[in-house]
Amino acid sequence: MAEVRLENITKDFGRVRALEGLSFHIEDGEFFVLLGPTGAGKTTTLRTVAGLERPAAGRVLLGGEDATGWSPAQRDVAFVFQQYSLYPHLTVFENLAFPLRAPGKKLGAREIRRRVEEVAAKLRIESKLDNKATALSGGEMQRVSLGRALVREPACFLMDEPLSSLDAKLREGLRVELKHLQVELGATILYVTHDQVEAMTLADRVGVLVGGHLQQVGPPEEVYEYPDNLEVAQQMGHLPLNLFPVEEEAVRARGIDRIGVRAEHLRVLPEEQAGPDDLRAEVLRVERLGAEEVAFLRVGNRRLYAMGEEHGRFPDAGEVAVRVETDDSLAFDPSGRRLDRDPGGRGEAPPGGESPADAARRMARGLRD
Ligand SMILES: Nc1ncnc2c1ncn2[C@@H]1O[C@H](COP(=O)(O)OP(=O)(O)O)[C@@H](O)[C@H]1O
Ligand SMILES: [Mg+2]
Repeated sequence: MAEVRLENITKDFGRVRALEGLSFHIEDGEFFVLLGPTGAGKTTTLRTVAGLERPAAGRVLLGGEDATGWSPAQRDVAFVFQQYSLYPHLTVFENLAFPLRAPGKKLGAREIRRRVEEVAAKLRIESKLDNKATALSGGEMQRVSLGRALVREPACFLMDEPLSSLDAKLREGLRVELKHLQVELGATILYVTHDQVEAMTLADRVGVLVGGHLQQVGPPEEVYEYPDNLEVAQQMGHLPLNLFPVEEEAVRARGIDRIGVRAEHLRVLPEEQAGPDDLRAEVLRVERLGAEEVAFLRVGNRRLYAMGEEHGRFPDAGEVAVRVETDDSLAFDPSGRRLDRDPGGRGEAPPGGESPADAARRMARGLRD
């Protein structure tokens, strides 16, 4: 396995700048997830590391060596695509053995069999080795795709949304297995996805890519809790971020333009427990997901999202009181940059409101107290 380093990569497609000044590194044995919406430049980043795209500027280093001019074959990286690209007329065994039969590999039949069987066992497809690739389920096909990367024992794996074409249950199962496998093998993985759950659960570190710009890099919990800006905060949540514009001058004077509150930090209370500073919201819909519940709320013309981990926490309809758990709110300046919470100011960050003006009034009160 090897360290991967991108330095100041810029890539244009005609007039479209897909990547701009992209720099990050992946440590040997690290699971690095690049998270971003469609069109962010994720696939272009992977293709650049693989040598399938030439950057207009910048360098790619593999294992400390400048690989920018190397051909894909020289790079010793294995690509796993979103769509499994198996040879349908070959058996699972032959699909797995294929990369080992490449010219220049010169492996004996016994060594090929040993590696294929070892990988098949790891991926729990050993009973399918004689099946035609077309006689597999989607999950099995994606295991074979992973297996074809694994048998090569490459310096680094590049994975382009490899789970996104699977249904939810398979996706979760394979996600857990992939993480196990990576730890067991000590594999270096650059994994790209638009799915923040995958980023949170798989990554040692996550990089958030928006519009070809790397916004922030760090351990997923840290990026989630301390996003540098609004775009990162919105990428990292699994529900939309509740955003309250600020109009009150006293608050704006502190540079605060918007307040963001995550769904799990909005407390929903029965009407009789409401305090004077709590919002009144109408419950539009409650989704009960077993272990957690999500409430879709409306305050005036504003939509709010609340999440709770207790069963039966939210009433299905009617009015509720909503309280902002203030210490976890995020304050943003007009450019979208997150402002630091006041030092030692737990509980000092301002709550939201049913209208921007009311929100700001309450926040101002909290800030003055
Ligand atoms: N071969 C190409 N030709 C022209 N434009 C491209 C090409 N590949 C990617 N792009 C453009 O580059 C940007 C980034 O694309 P891509 O890397 O595929 O994003 P992602 O994988 O994050 O969805 C997009 O605007 C896309 O339209
Ligand atoms: Mg892509």
